[in-house]
Amino acid sequence: MSPDDLKKLAAARALELVRPGMRLGLGTGSTAKHFVDLLGARVAAGLDVLCVATSEVTQAQAESLGIPMSTLDETPELDLTVDGADEVDPQLRLIKGAGAALLREKIVAAASKRMVVIADDSKLVAELGRFPLPIEVVPFGLEATRRAMAAAITASGAAGELRLRKRPDGTVLLTDGGHYILDAHLGRIANPELLGAALNVVPGVVEHGLFLGLAAGAILASGDGLKILG
Ligand code: 5RP
Repeated sequence: MSPDDLKKLAAARALELVRPGMRLGLGTGSTAKHFVDLLGARVAAGLDVLCVATSEVTQAQAESLGIPMSTLDETPELDLTVDGADEVDPQLRLIKGAGAALLREKIVAAASKRMVVIADDSKLVAELGRFPLPIEVVPFGLEATRRAMAAAITASGAAGELRLRKRPDGTVLLTDGGHYILDAHLGRIANPELLGAALNVVPGVVEHGLFLGLAAGAILASGDGLKILG
């Protein structure tokens, strides 16, 4: 099976969690895209759901499929959010944000009774941090924020470089919220809670891609079948 087939397998399993009348959070990324495609087919066949998207890209995809969409202002409590991840550890702690949607993804996950991760099992890691940790920051005061972040990272016991995320054409990437992303190349994160707490109090940091205590389950697909965590 190709990596894309595995993502689709995980997405199809997550679709089984959806019940008529549910309010759903729709994630962002290539795996979440499969889930939205499959959900769109079910909606076309008559399934009644109401959804909130975690990015403009997912919003456009869902609208194009005729999925009924809402906002967190109109629908502030969701039953289930299905989203991808860049890393998942055995305690269901996540790194997210490769698709630059981490801020809305975290807000939507926190507004959901249940968040379930879908991924191929290459995302399952013993320890978080090999994947660079995305941190969303306001453009104002970037260098001062970067210094304060570096100090916070060191104080938490981690170490590594912060790189401003650029688009392929070399321009600085802007998130849906109009912010920058600094990717922290840490190699390992021995204490995600400590690092998350240290980053939370840096002025200029809008949000970071450590999702701690948010995911209730994970559906991880491999050539041998599905592994369910949580
Ligand atoms: C976007 C994300 C994605 O969910 C994450 O990057 C996983 O993406 P993919 O399913 O394409 O591997 O956090 O901000």
